[in-house]
Amino acid sequence: MNIRYDKASDRAVATRCTQVDGIVDPPPDKSIAQRAALLAAIGDGTSRLVNFPSSADPQSTLRCLRQLGIAIEKDGEDILVRGKGLDGFSAPDAPLDCGNSGTTMRLIAGLLAGQKFGSVLTGDASLRSRPMERIAAPLRKMGARIALDTGCAPLRIERGPRLHGMNYRLPMPSAQVKSCVLLAGLRAKGRTTVIETLPSRDHTERMLNLAPREAEGDRHISVEGTMSVPARAWTVPNDFSAAAFFMVAGAAAPHGAILLRKVGLNPTRSALIGVLEEMGARIRIANREESGGEPVGDLHIEASPLRGVRVDGARIPLMIDEIPILAVAGALATGRTEIRDARELRFKETDRIGAMAENLRRLGATVEEFDDGLAVEGPAALHGNVVESRRDHRVAMAMAVAGLMADGETIIEGASCAAVSFPNYWETLASVAS
Ligand code: S3P
Repeated sequence: MNIRYDKASDRAVATRCTQVDGIVDPPPDKSIAQRAALLAAIGDGTSRLVNFPSSADPQSTLRCLRQLGIAIEKDGEDILVRGKGLDGFSAPDAPLDCGNSGTTMRLIAGLLAGQKFGSVLTGDASLRSRPMERIAAPLRKMGARIALDTGCAPLRIERGPRLHGMNYRLPMPSAQVKSCVLLAGLRAKGRTTVIETLPSRDHTERMLNLAPREAEGDRHISVEGTMSVPARAWTVPNDFSAAAFFMVAGAAAPHGAILLRKVGLNPTRSALIGVLEEMGARIRIANREESGGEPVGDLHIEASPLRGVRVDGARIPLMIDEIPILAVAGALATGRTEIRDARELRFKETDRIGAMAENLRRLGATVEEFDDGLAVEGPAALHGNVVESRRDHRVAMAMAVAGLMADGETIIEGASCAAVSFPNYWETLASVAS
């Protein structure tokens, strides 16, 4: 067994494997699932959510919606959400706890601004340290009254007048900010337009059927305050960001081939495929289909030698959650891998640039850290050591893959946080590594 998780110490221990081989069904996509739950709650009637994840973040979304008076039930494996329309929420009796989930907090804030009741949004220590002015500022422009605690949650949204539409140019590429403003726009007077210079994940636009307009290289995405959201069935594809750990493990292992089934392949999420191919990875996509407005397919990855790559600019938002595992791929590849224009990573569940630089150094890699990224010289001879998840699921999962390619024992402290997006990660990784 090359990966073991010990619950008592909350550590995972990884040892060097010689092959990564097998078939994995990654968990359902949390980004899409959270949006589906929110849109179902404001939909007219009952929506069915198929393949809804059991991971902590989407469960935080459901918990908050229940607190807002939305009935949510299980029907076999599916989830039924009894939508009450755009003005159907009732006042929560306590602060809404968004747990570790930035998407829950930022998107729900868009739906709670300008309601007839006030609400408070809070979360765990990580979420309470992340920047929330980026959503409070545009919501205030629409007429909302919001107070923060030095730029962070708890977010206090006062009951307020009806919001008004606006044009808003995103100051940073962020699908969470974009979605927050678009959701607020659904209840605002007039039209709300979000302008993005660098595209970020477009699930919200797809799910609301909003056709973006291209103008001078920017994307303009508009919603009308008169729109209603129909109830419907949503089938959630499997999560590309969860598959990414297995893509890199499969490509960088000495031997083996891995098949990842029914993975979401939205181009605004899956730029890692092209980057890994540029690094020399052998990737084949089969059984392409469309599911709930999202492209889906099976990914076949074979072990192959990797070479360094440079990733920057417009590619970064299209693989924002895959940068930690790309840094691991860089340590295992021949030559220099440089990741730039990724300063946003410093504002994730932890500072992912700092966390990955420190952890990879602990395994013996040569890493240069920049304000907006990092560079790693490979191939590094990795030696097992203790590394820290910093309670960030993607850091924990990425370091496990590094541990599979290191000699000795790599101990990942605080490993249970993987359950934020991937509840049985340790067992799944153990089942394909040998
Ligand atoms: C997400 C958007 C991204 C991503 C996060 C989920 C979303 O954040 O990192 O894990 O569901 O919209 P930003 O949009 O803030 O970059």
